[in-house]
Amino acid sequence: MNSKISAKNVNLFYGQKQALFDINLDFKERGVTALIGPSGCGKSSFLRCINRMNDTISGCKIDGKITLDGEDIYRKDLDLTLLRAHVGMVFQKPNPFLKSIYENVAYGPRIHGLFKNKSELNEIVEKSLTRAGLWDEVKDRLNDQATALSGGQQQRLCIARTIAIEPEVILMDEPCSALDPIATAKIEELIDELKENFTIIIVTHSMQQAARVSDNTAFFNMGKVVEFGTTDKIFTNPSNQQTQDYITGRFG
Ligand SMILES: Nc1ncnc2c1ncn2[C@@H]1O[C@H](COP(=O)(O)OP(=O)(O)OP(=O)(O)O)[C@@H](O)[C@H]1O
Ligand SMILES: [Mg+2]
Repeated sequence: MNSKISAKNVNLFYGQKQALFDINLDFKERGVTALIGPSGCGKSSFLRCINRMNDTISGCKIDGKITLDGEDIYRKDLDLTLLRAHVGMVFQKPNPFLKSIYENVAYGPRIHGLFKNKSELNEIVEKSLTRAGLWDEVKDRLNDQATALSGGQQQRLCIARTIAIEPEVILMDEPCSALDPIATAKIEELIDELKENFTIIIVTHSMQQAARVSDNTAFFNMGKVVEFGTTDKIFTNPSNQQTQDYITGRFG
């Protein structure tokens, strides 16, 4: 397997409390992996390890190793800005900047200097909004405040903002939990398109969503990976009784 990201023996502590135990997971290049499991089992904690968002939480310690393209992302001389350019993140609640629609998408390319002139930047903005399935809805109002968009549109804007800098990996932490079924369907279609080019890791509480969008699934429980395999196998013929109980809703 061609591993884009690899986690080896990862343990994570918040102060004295251990939240992740000896996590070993490999994520192949391109495609979608779903992280599922009951509330508090460590899905978000693990996701945040992959772009070092946990660095900002005081008292949070991690040991073990995580690599991106074989490179240790916890090494001392790592450029965090660059890491986060390679590993983008979409959160549960849409969090657009208090800027115009255009400037939300242009922000990353500006920081990373990804264009030579205004027309190149315009192209990046249009392409990103198009890929996020939002262009037609916003092309005549690019200078409006992002907060004037609906929740589902804001979430697609956040995805456009994330892909504008061409990350290789996109982390999504329950990206649809604040959305209605129509907006959710749009995001799922989008994930389906994006997985051709990006490695996507998505946390979801919806079994249906995990089954619909992912190629592989990891089932977490109490800070451990109980089972990891193809989504097909996890949802039709899991090896572990806990997985079986969880996917059939008999858990707890
Ligand atoms: N910033 C933090 N400080 C201290 N403990 C934390 C912090 N964030 C998470 N935890 C603890 O770590 C454990 C795992 O939490 P995490 O948020 O990763 O779970 P989760 O699987 O994402 O849950 P949910 O499905 O509810 O989002 C929980 O016991 C939680 O209380
Ligand atoms: Mg979470």
